[in-house]
This record gives sequence, structure tokens and C-alpha cells, in this order.
Amino acid sequence: MTQSQNGGPAVAGRQREAVLEVRGLDVDYGHGPDAVRAVSGADLVLHRGEVLGLAGESGSGKSTLAYALTRLLRAPGVITGGEVLFHSRPQGVDAGPAETVDLLAADAATLRRIRWSELAVVFQSAMHALNPVARIDAQLTDVLKAHRRSMTATQRRERAVELLRMVGISPDRLRSYPHELSGGMRQRVMIAMTLALEPQVVIMDEPTTALDVVTQREILEELMQLRERLGFAVVFITHDLSLLLELADSIAVMYAGRIVERASAAELFRAPRHPYSLGLKGSFPSLHGERVRMEGIPGSPPSLRSMPSGCAFHPRCAFATDRCAEEQPLLVTPAMDLPGGQGRTAGGPPSDRSSACWLQNGQEPPPAALALPFPPATATSATSDASATSPAATAGAGSPSAPSASPADIAPVSLPAPAPAPAPAPAPAPVNATSGATTATPPLGSSS
Ligand SMILES: Nc1ncnc2c1ncn2[C@@H]1O[C@H](COP(=O)(O)OP(=O)(O)O)[C@@H](O)[C@H]1O
Ligand code: SF4
Ligand SMILES: [Mg+2]
Repeated sequence: MTQSQNGGPAVAGRQREAVLEVRGLDVDYGHGPDAVRAVSGADLVLHRGEVLGLAGESGSGKSTLAYALTRLLRAPGVITGGEVLFHSRPQGVDAGPAETVDLLAADAATLRRIRWSELAVVFQSAMHALNPVARIDAQLTDVLKAHRRSMTATQRRERAVELLRMVGISPDRLRSYPHELSGGMRQRVMIAMTLALEPQVVIMDEPTTALDVVTQREILEELMQLRERLGFAVVFITHDLSLLLELADSIAVMYAGRIVERASAAELFRAPRHPYSLGLKGSFPSLHGERVRMEGIPGSPPSLRSMPSGCAFHPRCAFATDRCAEEQPLLVTPAMDLPGGQGRTAGGPPSDRSSACWLQNGQEPPPAALALPFPPATATSATSDASATSPAATAGAGSPSAPSASPADIAPVSLPAPAPAPAPAPAPAPVNATSGATTATPPLGSSS
């Protein structure tokens, strides 16, 4: 993994450097024979200054992964394997030396030192974490008092004002109690607290899901601007793949506790290599082109207690074969994307993508929908006005052959009906994995 396909503005034109590496992470709920595996062999790399998106339907293990890698997982959750390497490079006056810490092996004192000041987390219900009986200024300055002991009271107060301004809240709100603020403002305050100590990595688990789409959009726009200015890296977790298209440099797709595809945002949306990613992509509407009936993905994710054999997606997969029900595919670079493969348009950047699907092992040509070349042959002429103003488009600026991707560009995909399931089919509740409302708004950044 050396070259960015869709490197963000903060990293365009320079070598990518890993800040967080998750290797072979396994997480169970429960012990002994009652244990169920919620995350299995997760491998991820977050590069400095970039946004790594983690997508997947509800229950796929995204939050479990986030809690585990920050060591905030509570019983009955147990981390049973793997490592999480944090390559810290502190900045500023009080900065310590550069170091690499395995967060899974770190002692409590090391975790206390790193959490919040170097690696911060915003969870879905973060706005409810504000103390209801303390004013906003007290809550902001308390963080500084605890972690920046050299700051005077005046400096703390000035920093609190600066932080509120940074997230778009007027400083006259400093004396407010949380109940005097709207949900969006409370979430902004939480983001201000998260950024108070200038962390190198911010993990955000559905940070705006509870908010209306307009507020969500405003907050995310501000967040991305802050990311460009301050240079922190983000793991952004959401069930809304269309949102990641606009935010993320690279995306990992999770299904039933496993990462089934990793790719740059542009690759995933232009040329997915896994049937589940293809189904997610087909679950939200395009603003352009013909009106097509949304297909979604038939069925629902499996229960951890009765995981299908072989590839866990096979009962829902339109392309499943007998082998899929028997053997688990590994996450590897698709044969067509290896050097000399057919998946790369001549002159395109090298791929660091991977997919866990038997269709991609090179024995047979994959179905056309999973074998689109990347970059597309018409990439340079196909960039729409809408995508040209989106962060994803700007992100591609560092590599001219990597096209931007925007929901506006993405035609919904009609999936064939799933093959007769070799295992008992789950309840046939059609899943529309993403919100159409989100994609109907202009691309992030286009209004700024
Ligand atoms: N405290 C818990 N005890 C047992 N199982 C849990 C617990 N929390 C989550 N799970 C299970 O772990 C799986 C992954 O959950 P989660 O990480 O919350 O998924 P996501 O964030 O992708 O929606 C789900 O099947 C869920 O039921
Ligand atoms: S391995 Fe088989 S069931 Fe799994 S995603 Fe690929 S084709 Fe579908
Ligand atoms: Mg979750």
C-alpha cells in the first residue's frame, strides 16, 4: 500500500504514511462455547490526514470494531486476536516523542495518555454524553485542564472560544447548558471537545446519523474543512455508503463481521469487485440518467449465532455457486487488478484494493458488473459539474488519472435475482441500505 488512488487534498502529491494499522483483529461476544464472533480477521490501514470509511448494514460489526480498536469495548465483548498499531507523531509544545504503540497490548496509563489527546472518538450518541448540569465552557475547559496542565485559565477560556467558533457556534453560547442547545449544536460541541487537543486520529461512529440531513450536511462540511486545515485522519463509520463516497479517500465494506472489500472511494463506486458492494451501491438512487427501480439487497444480514457456511453472503448473493456455500474466500487483490490484469486501464495508478469473493480469483472471468475497468476509459471527459466541486473530486486532483466519484454520477445497478439459496433463506425483508434523502442533496463542499 504505497500510492493513493483518491488521496485527499491534505495528502495529494506526497507519499502516504500509515498512522493506524489494524491487523487480524478478532472480537467475540461471550466466552467459551457461547461465544459468537462479531469481528473476524479485520485488516485496515488509516493513512495520515486521510478519511477511511467503514461501511456495511446494521449489525455488520462496525461499532464493535471501533470500540475494540480504541480499547473501549465493554463486556461481554472480548478481543481475542490481532494488533492495532498507532504510529504516533505528536505535534505542539507539550509533544512527546514519536512512537508506535500496540493499543491492544498497551497498559492503562499509556491508553490514558493517548486517548483523547492523540486518538479521539465520537460515538453515535455522543451529544448525550455532555454533562446536563454543567455549562458548555466548563465542559470544554475541563478537557484542557486535565490534559494541558501548562495552560492558564485565560488561555483555556480563549481556546474554548476558538473551539466553539471552529465548529460554527457563536461564543455567546459558552454559558449555555446542553439542554439550551439543539441536537446539532450539542453534536458540534462534542466535535469541538474531540478536537480540543488536536488529535492525530479521530474515530467517528455514525456521528451525525441522529440528526436531520441538513444539519448533518452542515456539520460534515465543517468537519471536512477542519480536517484539511488541521490534518487529522478520520475513521468514519456509517451505514450510508453514499455519504462515504463524498467524504472518504478509501473505503472498507464489512459484512457479517468481515471486511469483504477494500478500495479507494473512486474504485468502489466506479468498479466494485464484490457483489455486496455492488448491492450497496445499487441501493441508492442516481440524480441523473434513466429512472431505475431501486433493487436493494434481498434478505437481511445473518445472525451471529447462525452464520452461513462458506461465504457468509452466499444466501443473498445473486452470483453464488456451490463453492460459495462450502469455502470462505480470503480478502485478496482481485486477479484482474494484479499487474498485467485486465481491470486496470492502461496508464492508471496501481491498485491496492482487495475483495473476498471467489469470482475474483482469476479462474473464470467475473460477471461484467464486477469487472469494470478502472479508471474508466472515459474518466477525463465524464467528470460532471457536480462531482467536480465535491471533496471526492478535489481528492482526485493529486492523481489525474483517478476520476472523482459522486452520487450524481452513479447509475443504480440492477442485480439479477439471487440464486436459489443452498442454506435456509432469512426473512425476506428488502434492505435499502442507504438513505435516498442524503443523495438528493448537493455534494458536500459545493455550497462553500
Ligand atoms: N453487547 C453485545 N452482546 C452481544 N452481541 C452484541 C453486543 N453488541 C453487539 N452485538 C452483536 O455484534 C454484531 C455487531 O454489532 P455492531 O458492532 O453494533 O454492528 P454495527 O455497528 O455494524 O451495526 C451484531 O450482531 C450485534 O447483535
Ligand atoms: S464468494 Fe460467492 S457468495 Fe460470496 S460474494 Fe462471491 S460469488 Fe457471492
Ligand atoms: Mg454501529
